[in-house]
Order: sequence, then structure tokens, then C-alpha cells
Amino acid sequence: MATQTSDFLVIFLVTCLGFISLCKPLLGFIRWVWVMFLRPPKNLRDHYGSWAIVTGPTDGIGKALAFQLASHGLNLLLVGRNPSKLQATADAIRERFGARVETRNVVVDLAKTSGEEISKTMEGVIKGLDIGVLVNNAGLAYEGARFFHEVDSEVVEGIIKVNTEAATWITKAVVPVMAKKKKGAIVNIESGSYGGFCSYPLYTIYAASKAYLTMFSRSIHMEYKNTGIDIQCQIPLFVATKMTKFKRSSLFIPSAETFSKASLRWIGHGEHLCVPYWPHSLQCLVLKLLPESFKDRYIFHYFSGMRKRMMQKDSRKIRPNTNQKLSNT
Ligand SMILES: NC(=O)c1ccc[n+]([C@@H]2O[C@H](COP(=O)([O-])OP(=O)(O)OC[C@H]3O[C@@H](n4cnc5c(N)ncnc54)[C@H](OP(=O)(O)O)[C@@H]3O)[C@@H](O)[C@H]2O)c1
Repeated sequence: MATQTSDFLVIFLVTCLGFISLCKPLLGFIRWVWVMFLRPPKNLRDHYGSWAIVTGPTDGIGKALAFQLASHGLNLLLVGRNPSKLQATADAIRERFGARVETRNVVVDLAKTSGEEISKTMEGVIKGLDIGVLVNNAGLAYEGARFFHEVDSEVVEGIIKVNTEAATWITKAVVPVMAKKKKGAIVNIESGSYGGFCSYPLYTIYAASKAYLTMFSRSIHMEYKNTGIDIQCQIPLFVATKMTKFKRSSLFIPSAETFSKASLRWIGHGEHLCVPYWPHSLQCLVLKLLPESFKDRYIFHYFSGMRKRMMQKDSRKIRPNTNQKLSNT
């Protein structure tokens, strides 16, 4: 009798464990479908405030995000380095949304302005505004894959300043305002190169700058999560923009517009790190399953190929000039 009871207990426990281990991925899948396709986006204006700040709104993801935020009724502070491109974005927003959306341009070169100056400028321009959302989107990458020693010093400095320092100092200007009114959302646009999936050789400085921003976001998310400020890191993989030079979008390389629509659905939902676009999230799942050494070797091989092709192209560009010089002499 005692052996029968213990047999029954063992079978019962094994069945329970089997059921739980089956439930976990099933529940994970159901949650994934909910957050990717069904969960309604937050009403950002009502929830956080009527103004949004977007850095780098003159192209790519930042421009598309500015339009998305405007379509949700937020007024915009557009922070960029090029006055005419900023004005063109502001004009396009006015044309699409009319007087419903107010825009203000803030001209600041984030690569050439000191952190404290950026912070002071931002403190000045946000005075009196009901700042609800900050999107730290402005970013710089290399023109092409390169070894660390091949990257121009100016490019290294620009990447560190725009991708890490500027986001830090703008956040520093905005957090006290949000903390005072006990609400606000800060979104940092990261990259799949941030270190969570694999190494990123030949784009080392870019990847390292994104790793900084990830840890920055993750840590201040903990510091401020009980004060009403939601801080989130969003991870795009490839998006067809000026930065990546992909001319055409596809399922796995969306347009900036498609990515920005997905991005907005995630703001304020509590996840401090997220991959907003669903095909990217599938790619990340595969990346997580692959062994580290395979990923590291593959990515180095992939970017080395890109570097080789870029150098061949560059040498073809240089050759006609050399010929011309020769024929002139
Ligand atoms: N595209 C992708 O596949 C991808 C993937 C992962 C992460 N991301 C991240 O997404 C963000 C946006 O990238 P994107 O692809 O949209 O790039 P993009 O098309 O090159 O646009 C970058 C934006 O940043 C602005 N910017 C650059 N340097 C600046 C400076 N010194 N001062 C002020 N503004 C400056 C640009 O202004 P100008 O118009 O004046 O150049 C532009 O508005 C970046 O943080 C990037 O790292 C992109």
C-alpha cells in the first residue's frame, strides 16, 4: 500500500512538472501575441503630458516617431543640428496635422556642444511646457565596418558624444521636471548591437555606446520607477534608414514608419527593455538560442565581408582621380 502511494506521488509530481514546463512557453507565446498585436497603446497625452521631445527628428526613425507622436496629439520639441531640415520636418508636421499640433525647433549640434550646455539649453526650452515624453533617438554610426584603429578620431568623438553624452545630459534636464509632476516617459532608442545578443566587431564604438545607454536606462529605470517616470530602452534591429543605407524595406528590415508605429505601442507599458517590432523580436529569439562562439564568428565574418566590399568600392572611386592626375602631368 505504502509503495503504491509513493508511486502515485512520483507520477503526480512528474505530471505536474511536465505540465508546468509545457505551460511556460505556451503562456510566453500568449503574452507575446498580446503585447505585440492586441495590447492597446497608452494615451500618452493624457497619461504623461502634452509635449514630447524628440532628438534627431530630421530623418529616419526620429522623424517617423515625431509624426507618430503628433498623430497621437502631442506637441513637439524637435531637437536637431540642421535648422533647415528641422524646419522642413516642422512644416511637414504642420501640413499633415494643422493647428492641432504645435512644434518648436531646438537647434543644437549634439556632437559639438558640451554636455552642460546641452542640458542648460534644454532646461531653458522646456520651461513652462507640460513635458510628457522624451525620446532620445539621435544617433551616429560609422559609414562602414572598420577596425577600431581605422575609425577617424572625429567620428569616435561624435559617436560617444551623440549616442551617450547627449542622451545623458538631455535626460538630466528633463527628469527633475517629470519628477516634480510625478509623471513622464523616457524612451532611449538602442540597437541590437548593445551586447545582449552577441559581440559587434568592426562597429565597436557604436556598439559600446549603445551598451552604455542600455545600462544607463536600466539603472535609472530602477531609480525612478516609483516616482511615475517610465524609462524604457527600445531595441530596433535593422531599419531602412540613411544610417543603414537599406533602400527598400522588407519584413525583417522595416521602414522607419513601420518601426515607429510599433515603437509607440510600447511606451509606458512597464518593460524597461523591449524589442517593439515583432519580426525583430523573432530574430532576437533565434539569436538568443544560437551559441555565443558561433554568433561571434559569424558576425565578424559578415562585417569583414562588408568592409572588404567597401574598400574595393573606395579604391574604384580613387582610381579615376589617380588616372586624371597622371594624365595631367
Ligand atoms: N536604422 C537602423 O537600422 C537602426 C538600428 C538600431 C538602432 N538604430 C538607432 O536608431 C536611432 C535613429 O537611427 P536612424 O537609422 O533613424 O538614423 P538616421 O536616419 O541617420 O537619423 C539620425 C538622426 O540623428 C540626427 N543626428 C545625427 N547627428 C546629430 C548631431 N550631431 N546633433 C543632432 N542630431 C544629430 C540626424 O540629424 P541629420 O538629419 O542632421 O543628419 C538624424 O535626424 C539611432 O540612435 C540609431 O543608433 C537604428
